[in-house]
Amino acid sequence: MSEQEQSKRSEGRSELPIESGFPIERVNEIAEKEGRAKQWYRPIYTMHKWWARRPGCLFRAITLYSLLDDETTIDDVDVYEPGENQTLGSNGLSNDDLVDAIREVSMDDPESLWDFYPKDVRIKDKKILDPFMGGGTSLVEASRFGVDSVGVDLNPVAWFVTKKQLEAGQTDVEELEEAFEQVKEDVADEITQYYRTPCPNCDGEHDADVMYNFWVKELDCVSCGHTVPLFKDYRVAAGRFENDDKHNVLCPGCGAVTLVDDWQEESECDKCDHEFVPKEGNVSRGGYYNCPECGQKESITDGIAEQGGYDLRLYAVEYYCKECDQQELEKSSYKGYKKAEAADKQLFEEAKREWETRTDLHEYVPDEEIAKGAITAASSVSGNDVFQHNLKDWTDMFNSRQLLSLSKLLNRIDDEKSRDIREYLLLTFTESLNYNTLMTSYNPGKNLIANIFNTNSFDAPQRPIENNLWGTKHGSGSFAAMWDMTIRGVEYANSPTERHIDNGENNETPAFAQPIGLNSEVYQDDMRNITAEDEYDAVITDPPYYDNIIYSEVADYFYVWQKILLKDEYPGFDEDKTPRAESIVTNPYLDKTAEDFEHEMGEALAVIRQALKDDGILAFTYHHSDEESWGELLESLCENDFEITATYPINSDLNKFIGGEAVSFDIVIVARPVEDHRPISWNSLRRRIVRTAAETRETLEESRDLAAGDIGVIEMGKCFQEYSKHHGEVHRGSDIMTAKEVVQKIYGIIQDNTRGEQAVYLDLLEAYNPSYDDLNKHLKHSDAAEETMKEMHLFRTEGNDFVLCDWADEKRQAYVQSKVQEDNGDLTALDKAHFLRYRFEQDKSTSEYLEQWDTDELQDVCEGLAEATGDDTYLKMLGVDTSLLEFAED
Ligand SMILES: C[S@@+](CC[C@H](N)C(=O)[O-])C[C@H]1O[C@@H](n2cnc3c(N)ncnc32)[C@H](O)[C@@H]1O
Ligand SMILES: [Zn+2]
Ligand SMILES: [Zn+2]
Ligand SMILES: [Zn+2]
Repeated sequence: MSEQEQSKRSEGRSELPIESGFPIERVNEIAEKEGRAKQWYRPIYTMHKWWARRPGCLFRAITLYSLLDDETTIDDVDVYEPGENQTLGSNGLSNDDLVDAIREVSMDDPESLWDFYPKDVRIKDKKILDPFMGGGTSLVEASRFGVDSVGVDLNPVAWFVTKKQLEAGQTDVEELEEAFEQVKEDVADEITQYYRTPCPNCDGEHDADVMYNFWVKELDCVSCGHTVPLFKDYRVAAGRFENDDKHNVLCPGCGAVTLVDDWQEESECDKCDHEFVPKEGNVSRGGYYNCPECGQKESITDGIAEQGGYDLRLYAVEYYCKECDQQELEKSSYKGYKKAEAADKQLFEEAKREWETRTDLHEYVPDEEIAKGAITAASSVSGNDVFQHNLKDWTDMFNSRQLLSLSKLLNRIDDEKSRDIREYLLLTFTESLNYNTLMTSYNPGKNLIANIFNTNSFDAPQRPIENNLWGTKHGSGSFAAMWDMTIRGVEYANSPTERHIDNGENNETPAFAQPIGLNSEVYQDDMRNITAEDEYDAVITDPPYYDNIIYSEVADYFYVWQKILLKDEYPGFDEDKTPRAESIVTNPYLDKTAEDFEHEMGEALAVIRQALKDDGILAFTYHHSDEESWGELLESLCENDFEITATYPINSDLNKFIGGEAVSFDIVIVARPVEDHRPISWNSLRRRIVRTAAETRETLEESRDLAAGDIGVIEMGKCFQEYSKHHGEVHRGSDIMTAKEVVQKIYGIIQDNTRGEQAVYLDLLEAYNPSYDDLNKHLKHSDAAEETMKEMHLFRTEGNDFVLCDWADEKRQAYVQSKVQEDNGDLTALDKAHFLRYRFEQDKSTSEYLEQWDTDELQDVCEGLAEATGDDTYLKMLGVDTSLLEFAED
């Protein structure tokens, strides 16, 4: 392809708003709120756990800024005001306004299009793909713009969760509610009969509901045999209501739950007068337990191995009494904590017996063993080997009463006739597994039950908490509470709204007429099996990142339960575990290294490139931690014929980034197909990069309220764009520079931030017949000063003429020579080059100087000089072989 054709091709592809500018300030403002209140902002995403979900607002904004372009006409879009399904009149925003807004997006002001963020915008004839859909955020958001969307994920659980999110918009809420009432009638009492406790207010005349049962693991002392309960401290929960400055603690003397003023100080039990410091339990850092009788210290996992397990003791319950509530007793008496009594222990035994006899229910719990893996076994990733905690089968994560309750409920769900309703019940069922397992604990400061995946691994607690599966009026994580979340999600999917912030004020639009999930398709597969060619306008995705989360292992927790109902319904649900080997992730257990991950990401990019149209766009979120992995990614994108066109930071506080530290943050990367790469010298590319960085920074500093680190990230994207046009063709001396080397240089350039006199001089030298105006233009985007350039004799004026001085200029050479004599360290590479050139022409020796000067930097400048002037003496004088240095310049 000729150069002309090349530039035509890139001209022919119109620039997308997201390449011109992206309102990260506005997106981050909403993302922060959404992150804290997902269930209010987008309840569709809180119907079921998927790990590392991205905020919906981010994908909404990416979609809006990626699918429209300069060629969009009023016939390609429809703008509706939420609430009424009608195009806007003169007082609102119309199709015309949208088309204008697209063209107005710029780096210094990307907000024209942002006006449409809270509008019901429909975009015609576009098709997007998310090959790593996970929890389906990109598909849900794309579907709201009316575009066709296709999603793929390797993991069957992700597939099921996303499928149900996308179907929710076509699901009838009333039918769901009726079905739930039936389930409640059929099994709620069956379950809750085992979650009752004598009400402490009336000497056991009536029962209260149990919200949570508190268990503690016990091990024998290896030395004296004393039974040691594994309490790190004796906190049960923070005081409530009139006692909210106090703490409920367990008395190790009598086992009562007693209120103390300060759990870290010496306290006295108000039941038995026992004196103790609630802070001081029997478990110490590093996983040891200490015998209170003989002082023996032993590792907990060794103790478990030696004794073939541990015992579990029920020590307290949190109760809620409906009757006392209705009799308007004090809050602190109808809801609180108490010691576990004989009746409580007996009730558990009854449940256990029922579970043992009800073998008909046993098919409703998993029979798989926990598979060994990087987070279940190899401690390098999680540090919590579950097998050392005596867990072997998935059912070991539950007690008999939980298994009984869960199997009763799942059995009933299986009986539900409507497939759609059955699946929402199942989805809610597995979501409640987050809080209905012995793998969760209670936060005694916040009085909340933790989600099993708080740490994205399986972390067996010393003090497991047993939730009431069906649930009662108070408490969280029960099936009934999760069902409310499902209903909210389905309602939202039927009539989604948009929350937005205008001048600091929170607003919510009326419901959009278009439900979520129309024209979406999802598949469970390895994305590398996608065969689409030239089909998609955009790939919008959030790919895996090294060993960030081992999805397959955590997802198994839900999979083994879901498959009980789904194994005959859908492919992929008849295995023992979710796919491992094809999962793109660093996994030490499978000996999959960072290099394997990088290789597989490369394969993924090749598939994505093929699926995209030539004028399509790839927009994805990624993590940034260091130069190394960035170089890899850039290399991989370029190798697969992508050009990076922009990068944006998506969380704040990036000041360390420009401080030069390796720092983690999340980023949006925009890339587009490119056909071939044009040759360029590193020198001239470097100057372009420096110039681009400076211009970008200046524009952003002038017009936007962004932190320096945010600006650095945007600069980086624009610099990558300069590089990616020339990948594989960047010549430096006789070498070709790699993407990694360039990334390193780009970092340096952004972090140093300076574009000094030398860069301006070389840029002017490259221009044809530069003028004083040109000088000013270049100075504007630089850190160079006219005064300094004059002092350095880099230019002079003759009357009205502007003259750039070269090495042969008398005053320039005199300046350079005096600098060399002074030898005070502020000699620039350009000074050195001019000095050497003079000596070279005079046939004087240069070797003593070449030996002491940094030749890399010098060579860069000499290459620049040679290139700008067409005079390769600048290189010959350094002894560089000049036969390889002919490059095309565009
Ligand atoms: C970062 S997550 C996506 C999260 C998603 N954006 C969200 O907001 O919920 C990456 C996904 O890639 C999936 N994945 C890993 N290897 C894959 C492969 N070979 N093919 C398809 N999906 C894969 C994982 O199962 C995981 O769900
Ligand atoms: Zn002992
Ligand atoms: Zn006591
Ligand atoms: Zn009561």
